[in-house]
Amino acid sequence: MLSGFIYLEVCFNYSGVALLKVLIVYDSVSVNKNTEKVAETIRDALKAKGIDVQSSYVENVDASTVKDYDCLIVGSPTQAWRATVLIRDFFDSLKTESFAGKSAVAFDARIKSRLSGGAIGGIESKLKQLGFKIIVPGLAAYVEGKQTNPVLLDGELDKAKKFAEDLAKALH
Ligand SMILES: Cc1cc2nc3c(=O)[nH]c(=O)nc-3n(C[C@H](O)[C@H](O)[C@H](O)COP(=O)(O)O)c2cc1C
Repeated sequence: MLSGFIYLEVCFNYSGVALLKVLIVYDSVSVNKNTEKVAETIRDALKAKGIDVQSSYVENVDASTVKDYDCLIVGSPTQAWRATVLIRDFFDSLKTESFAGKSAVAFDARIKSRLSGGAIGGIESKLKQLGFKIIVPGLAAYVEGKQTNPVLLDGELDKAKKFAEDLAKALH
């Protein structure tokens, strides 16, 4: 009886509507963990909108569970104009699955410069190849400072919160 109650609580909100399940997968390399901070901000803002969301460092994700989610959000620091090796390896680990009909979104952390490029384009291409549908434009979170010690610019976490709120609307 108790386990049945817990199951209902996990899968439905109090108005009886099934909760959407969202998985955020991120890498974060620098000491300041900027991409992780963006991931946590998105997670908290989605939770506040009643969405069942989990945020996981990429090496902690079991690829076989990704299909259990309605929406996959992938975030990466930009390195050499693209996503990190761990994020690219993560996509390789999903190759044998089909994600047709699932939603997805990308974000990255990058330097604010005309020459810096970004990881969003590559992440979105991989997601589309896997069958995901990109439901809102990706979020670029800007950092400044040395490569070893980059910090998010003022306002970037507010931008991430707004991004998540827009995403929540797109998901419902
Ligand atoms: C090896 C290396 C390559 C990088 N290449 C780029 C780049 O091509 N474009 C860019 O905007 N930032 C680049 N950066 C800066 C990262 O974007 C920045 O360190 C990152 O956003 C920090 O995210 P994190 O704190 O989550 O690791 C690079 C950083 C490193 C260490």
